[in-house]
Amino acid sequence: MILEALNFVATLAISGRRRAAEINSSVRLWTRARRCARDWEPHEENCKAFLTSRMPAQGRVAVVLGSGLLRDVPIGELARNFDTVRLYDLQHLASVRLWALARGFRNLRFLQRDLSAGLDFLREDTEVDLVISANLLSQLGVAAERMGTDTADILQAHIDGLRAAPGRKLLLTDVAFDLVLKSGAIVERHDLMHGIALPEPAASWPWTVAPIGELDPAYKAVHRVVAIDIPA
Ligand SMILES: C[S@@+](CC[C@H](N)C(=O)[O-])C[C@H]1O[C@@H](n2cnc3c(N)ncnc32)[C@H](O)[C@@H]1O
Repeated sequence: MILEALNFVATLAISGRRRAAEINSSVRLWTRARRCARDWEPHEENCKAFLTSRMPAQGRVAVVLGSGLLRDVPIGELARNFDTVRLYDLQHLASVRLWALARGFRNLRFLQRDLSAGLDFLREDTEVDLVISANLLSQLGVAAERMGTDTADILQAHIDGLRAAPGRKLLLTDVAFDLVLKSGAIVERHDLMHGIALPEPAASWPWTVAPIGELDPAYKAVHRVVAIDIPA
């Protein structure tokens, strides 16, 4: 509780977007990620392995969309291989900035931006050699649904924005989730993509986002994640 409060206050003090609800949401993600670290590890390793296998050995600017806690991107390799790594999220926690600073990553740029407004800002940026959308897409959908806006339009705009962006484009996203009883029986299945079609995935795996007891004593939430090379 004390660590969360400190992280919240420090982030609020340094953030260019002083929005308590957004910072609170990032702090909750940080707490949950630490609590579920063992269950999330295979997913995070799969994400990093996919990105590493597609990453140019050298480049000018790499962009990470939904960079958040930097758990699912190979940040060391990105920092080594690229002149600059631009990290976009609504908020970047003070703890994450401090972690990066302590490791000497001097070419990371923490940029706050609402990515539900689209990716037009990338289109004309000729320095960008790599764009990674890092487990952000379904979150754009969840937020749009909450606000009553057209979810499918926002998701489709993100895919179209990636297609139009320069350089190599890689998409990681959860596309669906199941609520699974201890017996293994699936009690509910939800589509997170609201019917939009994605390009063919290069890889796919399950991600236990909430193990038994995290959301409910009776079931766990298992998401289906896809890794996609976005064609131009
Ligand atoms: C599932 S987390 C992925 C986190 C990250 N890739 C990591 O390794 O920790 C989704 C991230 O998307 C960010 N996000 C959600 N909605 C966003 C929006 N409209 N604009 C920018 N970032 C957003 C959240 O703040 C969160 O950091």
